[in-house]
Amino acid sequence: MTTTLPATAIPATLIDGDGIGPEIVTAAVEVLEAAGGRFEWDVQLAGMEGLAKTGDPLPEATIASIRRTRLALKGPLTTPVGGGYRSVNVALRKTFTLFANVRPGRSLFRGGRYEDVDLVLVRENTEGLYVGVEHFIPIDDDPRAVAEASGIITRFGCRRIARFAFEYALRHGRKKVTVVHKANILKKLTGLFLETALDIGREYQGRLQIEERIVDNCAMQLVIDPQQFDVILTTNMFGDILSDEIAGLVGGLGTTPGANIGANAAIFEAVHGSAPDIAGQGIANPTAVIMAGAMMLDYIGLTGPAERVRRAVFLTLDEDRIRTRDLGGRATTAELTRAVVKRVQAEA
Ligand code: NAI
Ligand code: MG
Repeated sequence: MTTTLPATAIPATLIDGDGIGPEIVTAAVEVLEAAGGRFEWDVQLAGMEGLAKTGDPLPEATIASIRRTRLALKGPLTTPVGGGYRSVNVALRKTFTLFANVRPGRSLFRGGRYEDVDLVLVRENTEGLYVGVEHFIPIDDDPRAVAEASGIITRFGCRRIARFAFEYALRHGRKKVTVVHKANILKKLTGLFLETALDIGREYQGRLQIEERIVDNCAMQLVIDPQQFDVILTTNMFGDILSDEIAGLVGGLGTTPGANIGANAAIFEAVHGSAPDIAGQGIANPTAVIMAGAMMLDYIGLTGPAERVRRAVFLTLDEDRIRTRDLGGRATTAELTRAVVKRVQAEA
């Protein structure tokens, strides 16, 4: 396999995160290094660890580091309940305008629920029904008689995410993009999204097949025949829901990575949270954050090492049948990591 190895190490911010974060992030760093991804890690704090050590779940130093490196690998962060703390994940998304959420769903071993699933969901990350514009309307003595929420979608935002999805598809050798919407009911809110995506799509005629699907039908089709999908482009809330459905198709939360990408920064992470129920036991599945690391390698153009990581993970889970408990196996985090590193080295 040909690989392009960087002459110098690439500066990147590393956030261990909370709960199982330190265990799985360490695993990912080991695998990335074995694959030839040379990073100059700037280790920073966030989440509960940030709060404990600096009094802030999103310390200024962490923001400054990402502003400098524009690249981060991040473990999951526990959002402190109560105390008025903002969600660090939402704050990061806002601070760096990470408008695209990219979540690949890929079968990583045979004998799972579905085989040969290989699709990517591109979710708009800043608009829609998740903008948080909502309120109650009191009637008589009921202060919460009516709840009202506004979804906000802009043509600017639609253009930006549509172009991102089409360019992503081309760059990754994908053939088809399915625009998922509910324009039959939410005629204006998701109608604008559909109209704009198809508009931009015309520029890609002959290079990409672009189709549309109503979200409920898409949800069913994903279960009946997930192999028909290649890239799915959708709005914030539909993307949130469908990406968890897709994770369920291909082995669950322990294996699915995600990237939050904006014009000025990109943050790579697992889709799952800090899993406090198994933290510190050395049994967490590091696959999702390892795969997030592979996405990070892709993002900076190290496609050779990225493919090597993905292949090593596949061979470890599928051929070697070394799996953690969430995948029905008995391997510890360290055992799975060692096996993946061995496979990565054998691929070199
Ligand atoms: P979770 O994803 O942490 O855990 C859900 C279930 O999946 C648990 O049973 C857990 O043991 C299991 N699980 C998750 N990842 C696993 C792995 N790698 N290997 C094996 N099993 C795994 O979701 P939960 O419990 O709802 O959230 C816990 C905390 O994480 C909360 O504070 C939440 O706010 C935060 N969170 C952070 C995210 C982020 O930083 N991106 C995303 C989702 C939740
Ligand atoms: Mg979600």
